[in-house]
Formats: sequence, structure tokens, C-alpha cells
Amino acid sequence: MNTVDNVNLVDIPKVHDERGFLAVIEKDVIPFAIKRVYYLYDVPTESSRGGHAHKEQQSVIIALSGSFEVVVDDGKTKKRVMLNKPNQGLYIPTHIWREIDNFSSGAVCLVLASTAYDEAEYIRDYRVYKNQLFG
Ligand code: TYD
Repeated sequence: MNTVDNVNLVDIPKVHDERGFLAVIEKDVIPFAIKRVYYLYDVPTESSRGGHAHKEQQSVIIALSGSFEVVVDDGKTKKRVMLNKPNQGLYIPTHIWREIDNFSSGAVCLVLASTAYDEAEYIRDYRVYKNQLFG
């Protein structure tokens, strides 16, 4: 099963010139084929998003604008990661619990996902999550 050690930062190649930066997400940058892209915006600072794990979905989370923190948890160990660079993503494999909080004003949280949306592959109850991992 995946652990927080399998969660890692992904650098997104960028091109810079005097007109600004251009970041490119191509096939080899993300460790899965992207099936869906969604994003969170206008998130109140006190909001906590996420609060689930996935049986099938792998994700890469990117702070396209502003900043927020992602807490990843494998049922034993938790890690808090701040995202604040539009050219850096956080790869989260399956079976990792995640929560996202401390959204800055104007933050945009982009999620690249390996699956189509399917509520049946979510685990939204932390006790169920722990039970599935450790019985
Ligand atoms: P939710 O999973 O609670 O968002 P977060 O990951 O921030 O906790 O999703 C909020 C609502 O949006 C919920 O009713 C499911 C719906 N939703 C879709 O319809 N399609 C999607 O691709 C996603 C990610 C969510």
C-alpha cells in the first residue's frame, strides 16, 4: 500500500523570457494519463477541503495561484506540504488521505486526476479508511 513516502513534488518545466513564464505539462511530467482536470477557487481561508482518499484515483495538485497547504496521511504518518509555486505539483498516489487548508486569498488549486469522477472510488470516512488499511 502507498505511504506518505510515495507522495512527492513534481517540477513542471517552464519557459521564461521577458514577457513572463510559461509552464508546460506534457505526458512525461505527470506519472499517469490525465483523465480529468478540476480546480478550486474563491475558497474561504478557514475552509478545509479534501477529507478523503481514493481507491483508484491518482492526483497531482498545483497551486496555480496563491498558496495552500496539503496534509497527506497514510493512516500512520502525516505530512504537511505548502504549495505556492505554479510550476510545482504534489503527486498523491491512491489510498492516501488528504486535506487541504490555509488557502490564501485568490488561491487556485488545480487538480490533475487519473480517473473520471466516480463517487464509488472515494473513501470519505476516516474510520473506514483506517479499517480498509489495517482491518
Ligand atoms: P468534494 O470531493 O467534496 O471536493 P474536495 O475534493 O474539495 O473535498 O466535491 C465537492 C462536490 O463536487 C461533491 O458534491 C462532488 C462534486 N464533484 C463533481 O461533481 N465532479 C468532480 O470531478 C469532483 C472532484 C467533485
